[in-house]
Amino acid sequence: MRTAIYPGTFDPVTNGHIDIAERASKIFDHVIIAIATENYKNNLFTIGERIHLMKESVKHLNNVEVDSFAGLVADYARERGAQALIRGLRAVTDFEYEMQLATMNKHLNKKLDTLFLMTGNEYSFLSSSIIKQVAIVGGSVKGLVPNVVEENLRIKFNKS
Ligand code: COA
Repeated sequence: MRTAIYPGTFDPVTNGHIDIAERASKIFDHVIIAIATENYKNNLFTIGERIHLMKESVKHLNNVEVDSFAGLVADYARERGAQALIRGLRAVTDFEYEMQLATMNKHLNKKLDTLFLMTGNEYSFLSSSIIKQVAIVGGSVKGLVPNVVEENLRIKFNKS
């Protein structure tokens, strides 16, 4: 059984993340989307909300599980018996940070390899922050996030 962890904050999940999850689900037998509970970024959505939004967004993927984790992702991967971490690369600017994360994770868990998938061209400009910047002033994020996320952003920011 080949298991991969796709970790992130997902505040909120975008269609760029879903694209990575869909592609990973074709490569691995089991993909665990692991949502970091720690609030390094002053998150907009609570961990409960992020889990709910992610579960709704990947319910079409039978071999994808949604979970949360605290502490090191390298330890969580060991506990879950995962062989790989999945990360999306959007542009060259992501590379340096990702190399640092992958190397540190390998140091912490020798059995863990990081696998990078190139983010689809149509999503290479996306980040959760840019989605929130547009949604907070009532701009349209249709087609960039799952419908359930779009609805919940509207509710959060009280936009009709
Ligand atoms: N499509 C769209 N957006 C993408 C994307 C894609 N394919 N890939 C990344 N992004 C966005 C994310 O939404 C995020 O946007 P934001 O900064 O506006 O919120 C940004 O790019 C950075 O994403 P990512 O690098 O995945 O960071 P993250 O904060 O979501 O997750 C963790 C980082 C949680 C995976 C990492 O901090 C971690 O593993 N923490 C656990 C503690 C630990 O083990 N630390 C040591 C690691 S060596």
